[in-house]
Amino acid sequence: MDIAGKNALVTGAASGIGRATCEAFADKGAAHIHLVDVNAEGLEETARLCRDKGTECTVHVCNVGDLAALEATFADANAATPLDIVYNNAGIVTGAPLFPDGPVSRIEAMTDININAVFAGTRFAIDHMKGRGGVVVNTGSTSYNSTTFPDILYIATKAAVFGFTAACAQLEQSHGVRVCSVLPGLVDTPIVNTTGDGGKADWMERILRDNEALPPSALAAGVVGLVEDDACAGENRVVRAGE
Ligand SMILES: NC(=O)c1ccc[n+]([C@@H]2O[C@H](COP(=O)([O-])OP(=O)(O)OC[C@H]3O[C@@H](n4cnc5c(N)ncnc54)[C@H](O)[C@@H]3O)[C@@H](O)[C@H]2O)c1
Repeated sequence: MDIAGKNALVTGAASGIGRATCEAFADKGAAHIHLVDVNAEGLEETARLCRDKGTECTVHVCNVGDLAALEATFADANAATPLDIVYNNAGIVTGAPLFPDGPVSRIEAMTDININAVFAGTRFAIDHMKGRGGVVVNTGSTSYNSTTFPDILYIATKAAVFGFTAACAQLEQSHGVRVCSVLPGLVDTPIVNTTGDGGKADWMERILRDNEALPPSALAAGVVGLVEDDACAGENRVVRAGE
């Protein structure tokens, strides 16, 4: 799909990979981007960056883990500008303490935000794109099949996104919507600072010391590539340093 003149909705748009992807969509001439996040201040900054590039933006402060709120956000966005591209990108890490410690509510937050919002966001996208076609990109992670990455809940939620995306390949035929995922390796974004108790976990410090992190712009280029590649239904595409 050619991004020029298209309307997009991006979750997790206030920071990191989401913000960089909004900027990349704007560089490609996107007409309108609906920016979704819980961080109102960050959303305004992303909107400013994209408007400077000539792309219209609407800010939606929304917790994607609240599926009723997410459904309403998709409906509002699509009513304003029919959606062509949806990027389900918002995500969190477990933080300290890691599973199996910590409150059970953390399991709910991880599944609500990292899994359910991706499944539901794909469903809401298809509700609105049906008959017109469109592209959905999800954010997984190269850690989806790791047995050593310390954040067990994170691995498991990203494994769910991997399996979901691969299975959604068939929706191109049945519903005319292409679903794919980007699997980032290590990326230099604020999420790494939420792995510990009020900052970076020691294990994350070690990972950052021993591995090269990509800038968010490299991931944004990967997402643009998936949107533009009409042959990648169901693909989980790795974007990491050294590849
Ligand atoms: N940074 C990495 O190394 C890395 C690696 C693999 C995958 N990822 C994935 O990339 C995606 C983007 O993360 P990032 O690295 O850009 O981190 P980030 O923290 O910069 O961005 C995540 C954004 O999601 C938003 N968000 C969190 N919970 C939300 C909620 N309930 N509702 C709405 N918005 C919410 C945050 O406010 C933030 O703006 C995530 O899915 C993450 O799991 C990141």
